[in-house]
Amino acid sequence: MESLLGDLGDLHSHLIPGVDDGAQAVEDSLDAVDRMVRAGVRRIVTTPHLTASLIDDTDEFEVYMAKVDEAWQKAHRVVSKTFPEVDFHRGFEVAVDTPAADLSDHRLRMAGTSFVLIEWPRLHVPQRTERVVQRIRNAGIKPIIAHPERYSGLDSELAVVGLWREAGAYVQVNHGSLVGRYGKVAQRTAMELLKKGWVDFLSSDFHARSGLEPYIREAREALSDMGADEQFRTLTATNPARLLADEEPLPVQPLFVAPGWWDRVKDMLGGSRRRRP
Ligand SMILES: [Fe+2]
Repeated sequence: MESLLGDLGDLHSHLIPGVDDGAQAVEDSLDAVDRMVRAGVRRIVTTPHLTASLIDDTDEFEVYMAKVDEAWQKAHRVVSKTFPEVDFHRGFEVAVDTPAADLSDHRLRMAGTSFVLIEWPRLHVPQRTERVVQRIRNAGIKPIIAHPERYSGLDSELAVVGLWREAGAYVQVNHGSLVGRYGKVAQRTAMELLKKGWVDFLSSDFHARSGLEPYIREAREALSDMGADEQFRTLTATNPARLLADEEPLPVQPLFVAPGWWDRVKDMLGGSRRRRP
């Protein structure tokens, strides 16, 4: 696939070999970065899974961090050599499984900035998450909530996402969600979030398996068809670049979706038939 824009940034992926359910060998990491490059990505913050309660178990946490460090150094060395044009950084995707999660360890941050990527465990939103967001924010950390469109049990107005944003969280949606990779509900929710102007970043959540380029391309085409090229650019290039400079993302204009447009696009993409492998 030819390059889309050549300056995209991707803030959510699992490319460090052998530490989570993403890349298993360094060859997988290389293949994944190659695919990202072909899709136009030049800035990557890869984000292995970490469960917040593990942080309290100091010994186990340090064992995991040492494992991630070692695998990261190996992957970073070969990626930098093979793809010198790629800016390759590390963060974590922290599953916040305890309301009192302590995310103050600087190693958890996205590329050493004040941002941390978080998710709620088991794709379900617990009670009073806005208070957890507020506590994280009060500790001087800027939380980015990963793929809210994939959570079960969100109300139709997505009020909880509004509460997260009021409490100071940012929102990252997966490209694949926009084109049906995770099913119709996630697709509709992703679109509703964009219509509200509540999305700050679009990223891949790439696990170094199948897919990637088609999702990025189709997400771009879908937004372009809605006259939202500027929003796509802010979500995939401008805001990731700002994050790496430790700057707040720019606001993204709410998407305007003309009546009947959504059904036509679903037919065109055949997106609602796709499922996560
Ligand atoms: Fe992820």
